[in-house]
Amino acid sequence: MKVTVFGTGYVGLVQGAVLADVGHQVLCVDVDEKKIAALKAGQIPIHEPGLDALVINNQQLGRLQFTTNAAEGVAHSELIFLAVGTPPDEDGSADLQYVLAVARTIAQHMDGPRIVINKSTVPVGTADKVTAVIAEGLAQRNVPYTFDVVSNPEFLKEGAAVGDCQRPDRIIIGTSNPASEAKLRELYAPFNRNHDKIVMMDVKSAELTKYAANAMLATKISFMNEIANLAERLGANIEAVRRGIGSDPRIGYHFIYPGVGYGGSCFPKDVKALIHTAKEVEFEPLVLNAVEDRNHAQRNVLFERISTFYNGDLKGKTIAVWGLAFKPNTDDMREAPSRVLLESLWAAGAKVQAYDPVAMKEAHRIYSERADLQLVDNPLAAVQGADCLTIVTEWQIFRTPDFSLLAQTLADKMIFDGRNLFEPSLPAGHGLGYVSIGRPMQLPR
Ligand code: UDX
Repeated sequence: MKVTVFGTGYVGLVQGAVLADVGHQVLCVDVDEKKIAALKAGQIPIHEPGLDALVINNQQLGRLQFTTNAAEGVAHSELIFLAVGTPPDEDGSADLQYVLAVARTIAQHMDGPRIVINKSTVPVGTADKVTAVIAEGLAQRNVPYTFDVVSNPEFLKEGAAVGDCQRPDRIIIGTSNPASEAKLRELYAPFNRNHDKIVMMDVKSAELTKYAANAMLATKISFMNEIANLAERLGANIEAVRRGIGSDPRIGYHFIYPGVGYGGSCFPKDVKALIHTAKEVEFEPLVLNAVEDRNHAQRNVLFERISTFYNGDLKGKTIAVWGLAFKPNTDDMREAPSRVLLESLWAAGAKVQAYDPVAMKEAHRIYSERADLQLVDNPLAAVQGADCLTIVTEWQIFRTPDFSLLAQTLADKMIFDGRNLFEPSLPAGHGLGYVSIGRPMQLPR
């Protein structure tokens, strides 16, 4: 089938490439000329395992094409995906300007019936807004084409986006139009082989499903972080508690890892947007408010531990930081807990020596002006001359450090671990102090 995808960000590019890979003829459209030129040249703008090969192969096979020409995009296919960004507005609501701009473009160039499929994470009611904009555009042109706006949210995780998209847990299709349902079933048939993953529903429920899924996951994380804080104060060990509750299948082991709070492009933005949506319909979302408050507080926990250790005086200290990306296997630093830590350390007068396996370029871009940040080439260079080490992202490479070398190198023999990477006896065995999340603190010997 022919498919057009507007937006070549995480969602659009991955979805476009994955659809091309099963044989669909995909045209990806973006207003960013530099990005499209790069993609045509086989350069992938984001770090996502497996994506390079998928894009390059399918481009070579002629199934995946890129353009900045919106008219060409609308003409290419009856199926048009919206996968443009919905950044947070100042008040926390999702900014729909890009989604609605594409809707106007579609109305401008439509030359027959279309199914507009929304993949962007958008508030409940957006399909209605997109419908209104397209209807208005068509009325201005005085043309009678029919169209349907479908909600088909994406659930991919960064770092595993290609696999998630190729093997989705579920395919949510929100429409009340049988013709749209039939087309989408045909489009997704290659991903729906072994058992039926398609869940049909009305448009609004599909829109809300996406937010509910992310908010539920964020709730699990904030809940665990809350219990971790409690465990610390009670002298309990959150890792034991985690295993203890995870064994109950009703709770499960997923997404109950305590840490430095959730970050990234989805959870913080989506929880905020859902709170905003609730308030718009005059409903106070007590649980969501608490999820967000806990996350804000949790992002400060590492800094607070470091500051307490140094009695509030961090002036002139050099802190090694391992991990800058908001999670492993991505270079994404949007809403990364590392940024809250770095900025608090700098505000307190400390210097930072940081290393991340892939987010160095991104860190350079964000913090190019900072003289109190040194970005180094490897984990050991970060600890050279540092007073203590903090770990913010659980990259595999940080999991088996040479503790005796760390004990010799770190002036204050302290590790502050925001991801509970080590069995506490390991650093302790080398005389290192170890502060982690929700476990008893160990001082250096
Ligand atoms: C998330 C959802 O998982 C995905 O389904 C949705 O489509 C987009 O948002 P992503 O933002 O890529 O994906 O990352 P994810 O792996 O879900 O992690 C989100 C954040 O939660 C990270 O900051 C991670 O460190 C944190 N997290 C996750 C925890 O702190 N503890 C956990 O147990 C799990």
